[in-house]
Amino acid sequence: MSPDTSTASRGLEGVIAAESRMSFVDGVNGVLEYVGIPIAALAENSTFEETVFLLWNGRLPKRPELDSFVREIRAEYALPQSLIGIVTSFPKTAEPMHVLRTAVSALSLWDPKPDAIEPESVRAKGISMMAKMPAILTTFDRYRKGLARTNPDSTLSFAGNLLFMLNGQRPTETMERALDVCLILHTDHGLNASTFTARVIASTLSDVYSAISGAIGALRGPLHGGANEGVMHMLNEIGSLDNVEPFIRGRLEKHEKVMGFGHRVYKTRDPRAMFLKGFARKLAEQTGNSKLYEMSRRIEDLMDKEVGSRGIYPNVDFYSATTYHCIGLQLDLFTPMFAISRIGGWLGHVIEQQHGNRLIRPKADYIGPHDQPYVPIDQR
Ligand code: ACO
Repeated sequence: MSPDTSTASRGLEGVIAAESRMSFVDGVNGVLEYVGIPIAALAENSTFEETVFLLWNGRLPKRPELDSFVREIRAEYALPQSLIGIVTSFPKTAEPMHVLRTAVSALSLWDPKPDAIEPESVRAKGISMMAKMPAILTTFDRYRKGLARTNPDSTLSFAGNLLFMLNGQRPTETMERALDVCLILHTDHGLNASTFTARVIASTLSDVYSAISGAIGALRGPLHGGANEGVMHMLNEIGSLDNVEPFIRGRLEKHEKVMGFGHRVYKTRDPRAMFLKGFARKLAEQTGNSKLYEMSRRIEDLMDKEVGSRGIYPNVDFYSATTYHCIGLQLDLFTPMFAISRIGGWLGHVIEQQHGNRLIRPKADYIGPHDQPYVPIDQR
């Protein structure tokens, strides 16, 4: 017997649509764990590569396993030459998220077996796709700025190589670690909209490239991952500490959303935001961006007073905006950076979905008319 519900849940709120062993999100107590490990412990001690291994395998790797996983990823940093040609023929005005989505989808054309969905094959495709995302983004970014392309450096970590390819010089340890922590914090988060999209696509037994490009499309929306760019636009618009209060009050009075606040699951503080807050403060001090951090903190204090009682708190996107800015990322690379982090989670969910798959196919509550006559076109 199939379960049936007579009323629709708007935005599928509260609906449990999959089982997962990857991340546990407790929105009431503000807990986030990856495979049972608190997110702060991973952010403090782990690396992006190790965290992805954890999510995909359900356990932390032993040293030789991690070394081999890292080697596999580094061996896949480079793009096929002809894809470089395609990415560098896109209009320079293209939005990086559109570039990322298009090029990730195009990777399937270089795969002799793009449709293979056996776990080992999906894992290999996943490693290749994840490893190449930095090269896609940085190749396009440097091309649009008229800068010489940088080749990947396989002696560098995932985060280190990304910053190296972006800036054409090796990052400092602080910046590499800062990006690594951001990658860890963003890589998985239950059945969020983009992860759900990836699982829906995987559930049709479609290919992994389709699942990931669909997820990138879902992530870029301003209600989801696109909010980090929205936060930065907002901070730029506010411009000064004195303008924080009139600006935020103005938004709330007009019932407009304040970007980087609110969450479907968290009705308390998002533990990722709390971690990023401390991180953003330190980085802002080190990079001369204290005003940006101070503005963010004032916004948080005011929002706390005004809407905190309604469970509207900073989400992961709020302090990641300041963090990304301090790392030196251009504004329109913020959401692509989120996509590059979240691919670890998306791929893990695709693998989970394919294991014991059942087509995801909910119903719509039909609310239109019945028994209508068909009126010939010239009588309408
Ligand atoms: N600013 C002001 N008011 C807010 C905010 C906000 N950021 N978020 C929610 N509210 C209010 C809504 O206006 C609404 O009020 P009402 O009941 O008086 O109409 C109420 O809280 C419920 O809001 P919904 O949008 O229905 O809540 P939902 O669970 O659907 O939305 C969402 C969650 C989309 C994240 C929402 O909080 C939002 O739009 N935030 C701003 C965008 C953002 O930061 N997105 C990133 C989310 S985290 C992520 O995806 C990585």
